[in-house]
Amino acid sequence: MAEEDFGDKAPEGAHGSGQVGHVSVLLKEAIDFLAIRRGGSYIDATLGLGGHSLEIAKRLGPQGHLIGFDKDTHALELGRKRLAQMDVGEPPRITLLHSSFADIARHVPPGSADGLLADLGVSSLQFGDPARGFMFQAEGPLDMRMDPHGERTADQVVNHMREEDLANVIYEFGEERRSRRIARAIVRTRPIRNTAHLSQVISAALRSMKHGERIHPATRTFQAIRIFVNRELDDLKALMEAAPIVLKPGGRLVVISFHSLEDRIVKDALRDGVKAGLYSVLTKKPLAAGEEEIDRNPRSRSAKLRAAERT
Ligand SMILES: C[S@@+](CC[C@H](N)C(=O)[O-])C[C@H]1O[C@@H](n2cnc3c(N)ncnc32)[C@H](O)[C@@H]1O
Repeated sequence: MAEEDFGDKAPEGAHGSGQVGHVSVLLKEAIDFLAIRRGGSYIDATLGLGGHSLEIAKRLGPQGHLIGFDKDTHALELGRKRLAQMDVGEPPRITLLHSSFADIARHVPPGSADGLLADLGVSSLQFGDPARGFMFQAEGPLDMRMDPHGERTADQVVNHMREEDLANVIYEFGEERRSRRIARAIVRTRPIRNTAHLSQVISAALRSMKHGERIHPATRTFQAIRIFVNRELDDLKALMEAAPIVLKPGGRLVVISFHSLEDRIVKDALRDGVKAGLYSVLTKKPLAAGEEEIDRNPRSRSAKLRAAERT
């Protein structure tokens, strides 16, 4: 499977200092597929550090409208600052909302959007800040929430879930074959104190097994817990249901995913949308980042972009 890949280290500038260090993935390709119309209304479902939003906003003109969503209040604040510093003569109207993109149809009128972009997963700002608990290479709290007000935390999963349920989470959302062995080791060691401790427990549980893998042994388990904590796949399914409702005929949908579980949901939704006469697909095969982008930004290695037009 393809895991979300941040390389061995957190990306530069992504250490929770508030610096804008996130490098937008497939930026040019996403903007090209959105085919931005001056004066149009565009949704960035995953504002993050506003890299994609900024490029959209630059092309909209004063009659245009950019609507940005993010679950993470910190990302919204930084995205807002970045957009406010935008160096264009006449900026568009900008609305930023602290909400899951699962609820887009509650905020955006039906048939009103010329385009919708979703660049899924966590930003390097979130990933690279040990205090958010996403990093297995650093000591941080067992949190992993994108939304600081979210109900589920990694601590609940790691320290309180039944062993069988924990194994299922690790298997289902991490596609980790050794889920039972990992769950058993976690439950035997409880309480797990922090992310570094969790990572050690997983590594020790897998040490005796032969696996010449290029990824850290904790990668899949951390991904699984993060997906579960943030209900990422349910949110994505809800977004894919809402997209054809909020898009105008001719409106463009662009989704960038980072692992096979996400890509499958996008691919299936587009296929069903074509059958239902809602979309024509613009990317027969998903687009991937080129070598040069991968060298610059390890996170782009697992990216897949799919685009469609609302019919
Ligand atoms: C990969 S980053 C986006 C980066 C952005 N495109 C840029 O260029 O700076 C993904 C962002 O989406 C947010 N996010 C993830 N799932 C979300 C959801 N269900 N609803 C709203 N925001 C979400 C995360 O908090 C994160 O800030």
